[in-house]
Amino acid sequence: MLPNLQLRHGKAEDAIDISALGSRVFTHSFSALMPSEDLKIYLSQSYSATSIAAELDDPAVTFIVATEGDAILGFAQLKRDSSERCIDNLDNKIQLQRLYVSERHQGLGIGKQLLLKAEEEAALMGFKNIWLASWELNPNAERLYNRSGYVKHGEMTFKLGNTMLKDWVMVKPL
Ligand SMILES: CC(C)(COP(=O)(O)OP(=O)(O)OC[C@H]1O[C@@H](n2cnc3c(N)ncnc32)[C@H](O)[C@@H]1OP(=O)(O)O)[C@@H](O)C(=O)NCCC(=O)NCCS
Repeated sequence: MLPNLQLRHGKAEDAIDISALGSRVFTHSFSALMPSEDLKIYLSQSYSATSIAAELDDPAVTFIVATEGDAILGFAQLKRDSSERCIDNLDNKIQLQRLYVSERHQGLGIGKQLLLKAEEEAALMGFKNIWLASWELNPNAERLYNRSGYVKHGEMTFKLGNTMLKDWVMVKPL
C-alpha cells in the first residue's frame, strides 16, 4: 500500500502519460501471448496519445487515475452507453472499459482501489450494474474481478489487430 497514493479524475493533460502507461503495461502483460503484428496494430489504434485524448474528451467516458506526486501509476476507465449481446437485456449499466496498473507497482492494492473508486463513481452516477470484458487468458484480472463480486454472464469476441479473441463478460450489481 502506498501512503501517498491519490485518486482523481483524468484530465486532458494526462493523455500522453495514460497513453505511455497503457501501452507499456499492455506490452509487458500480453506481448508474449499474441503475434507482434497484432500488438503493433492494437497499440497504434487504441493507445496512441491521440486516441486517449479523444476518450478523455468524450462525455460518455470517465477516467480515474491513481497518482503518486506527478506520476500516474494506474487508471480505470468507465464508459456509458456500451453493451454486448449477452447483456443487452441488463438495464442501467456502465462498463469498466479498462483497468491498468504500472507493472512496477502491481500487487500493492492500487488496482483494487481504482476498482472500488470506479464502482463508487458509477453508483453516484445512478447506475445499478457495472460490467466488463476480461480476456480468457488473463487469470490475474479474472481473480481480482471474481473476488470483487463480478460474475460471468457470457462471452464476447474482441478484435485485436487481425485476430479475434474471446473475453468473459462479467457483471456486478452496484
Ligand atoms: C489486473 C491489475 C489491474 C490488478 O492491479 P494490481 O494493483 O496489481 O492489483 P491489487 O494489488 O489491487 O490486487 C488485487 C487482486 O488482483 C490479483 N492480482 C493482481 N496482480 C496479481 C499478480 N501479479 N498475480 C496474482 N494475482 C494478482 C489478486 O487476486 C489480488 O487480490 P489479493 O490481494 O486478494 O490476492 C494489474 O495487475 C494490471 O494492470 N494488469 C495488467 C493489465 C490488465 O490485465 N488489466 C485488466 C484488463 S481486464
